[in-house]
Amino acid sequence: MEIKPIVIIAAMQEESDFLINKLKNAKCENVGKYKFYEGFINNYPVVICESLVMSINAAIATHIAIEKYNPIAILNEGTAGAHEKTIHKGDIVIGEKCINITSCKTPNKKAGEGSNSLDWKLVNFISGEENKLEYQYGDKRLINIAKQVTYTEGMVYFGTIGSGDVWNNEIDRILWLNREYKTLCEEMEGIAVYTVANNFNIPVLGIRIISNNEILGEEFDKNLGLKSQEFTYELILKMIQEKYLDKLV
Ligand code: 5AD
Repeated sequence: MEIKPIVIIAAMQEESDFLINKLKNAKCENVGKYKFYEGFINNYPVVICESLVMSINAAIATHIAIEKYNPIAILNEGTAGAHEKTIHKGDIVIGEKCINITSCKTPNKKAGEGSNSLDWKLVNFISGEENKLEYQYGDKRLINIAKQVTYTEGMVYFGTIGSGDVWNNEIDRILWLNREYKTLCEEMEGIAVYTVANNFNIPVLGIRIISNNEILGEEFDKNLGLKSQEFTYELILKMIQEKYLDKLV
């Protein structure tokens, strides 16, 4: 039987270069603007995809990866902005759940009544169903393996990732998302990767390094992408070691 590879989806070069360098016998395949680096880590096939930023790119890259490689699991890693005062640059968030923070329904307001995003509700629009928020879940076995990874450069939090095509700089909105929906951080690709992977029944997990905390004025540093890659590398090694993969093949 063909061995199913582990696929990593990362938006930017700063979130993929370290892992690409870890690949043995790497070769790059381009599909449109999406780059897929195929190779081996500890003799196990791994594909690193540079998906470009934003959910529309992450969704299509994930779908191409599923069709092209039939992956055993999909990991999505990269940078994110913190949604709590206690979560700092250099900390890691693992997405037990992921929600779409740009899928919203506003209240009815007449002309001249203005707009206040704190009145909006997060909902998913599913034909024939009442509007409600839908959670996308990370794979339990992958979460358990992530719990075994040693990370010495900050805290590791497990919880909800908020994801969508927005960069929130309004502290009240950030704190509202945290209070109402328990988001630990925000980024732009996770919801696409989780949704597409779950729709195809492929185990998925998001690993995010906190690269900024707008609440505390900790500025964005995309070079911290290296740390989400280092964490992900350890996770991949554990997946291979723990025979996680054998159980699924
Ligand atoms: N808000 C939204 N996206 C962020 N990213 C890092 N920090 C944030 C933030 N505070 C990530 C996104 C995207 C790129 C702009 O950086 O996932 O890939």
